[in-house]
Amino acid sequence: MEAQAINPHFPTTLNSKNRNFMAKITCFPQSPTWVSCKSHNLSFVPEFGTSLKKDLSLRSSCVVKAKVGSDGGEELGEGVSRKNLAVFVSGGGSNFRSIHEAILDGRINGDIVVLVASKAECGGANYARNKGIPVIVFPKTKSGSEGLSPHDLVSALRKFKVDNVLLAGFLKLIPAELIRAYPKSILNIHPSLLPSFGGKGYYGMKVHRAVIASGVRYSGPTIHFVDEHYDTGRILAQRVVPVLVTDTAEELAARVLQEEHQVYVEVAAALCEERIIWREDGVPLIRSKDDPDKFS
Ligand code: GRF
Repeated sequence: MEAQAINPHFPTTLNSKNRNFMAKITCFPQSPTWVSCKSHNLSFVPEFGTSLKKDLSLRSSCVVKAKVGSDGGEELGEGVSRKNLAVFVSGGGSNFRSIHEAILDGRINGDIVVLVASKAECGGANYARNKGIPVIVFPKTKSGSEGLSPHDLVSALRKFKVDNVLLAGFLKLIPAELIRAYPKSILNIHPSLLPSFGGKGYYGMKVHRAVIASGVRYSGPTIHFVDEHYDTGRILAQRVVPVLVTDTAEELAARVLQEEHQVYVEVAAALCEERIIWREDGVPLIRSKDDPDKFS
């Protein structure tokens, strides 16, 4: 099986038989200062133009670096540029806050450059304003006095040079225009083990009430890529939380939310370090930071 890297500047394939990376590197003038790829054996064969070959350096760890021009962007070791994130919220924004705190701690190689809120006044939007993060409202409110159209939203995200979108309790459907503008770049967190208890109408306490009523013994958050429907995009990460026999929906929600904060930070870190790859059947995987041969 094969998988593709999420970074469009650096297509990578994963071969499931030998689990080695094989990469075909294409040079884009707009790509970050460095492109790099890592392989644990030399089945890795980059195809570079002659002029670029001069700038290649092959290190003992088999990391290949190529200088492809300067755009002034800040770089992580091994050439991964810092990512610009947009977070979308509709409410309190505790996931947004935990991601922001992880960024301030240096656990995520990215910055939240804009917060998109479905309501100008909500916990998430107020937190963002306090932290100096620009807030934009989407979609248009009923009165029409504020809120962007899908077209203007995409333009605004482009203006902020957003690389990835993280939905964190955003209750509105993401417009097709945004999904087309950001392919394989939008993540959502849902508080149940999808595909169960997902879809239109499953949000907030409704999810946890349905989980308890069904009698399932386990629940937990799912992070998935976003498509044009509610909660149906490809699953990237899940965490299991036991459902206790005495649980109220609120108690279960609190336990799931704790896991959400951890898993979303881990996934955002992987995303910003370009450790997400696509298996050839379309399933996204996260490459372990500690052992690049391991995926989850
Ligand atoms: C979380 O439970 C998340 O899974 C769901 O909405 C909730 C948002 O919570 N999509 P918060 O606003 O991050 O506290």
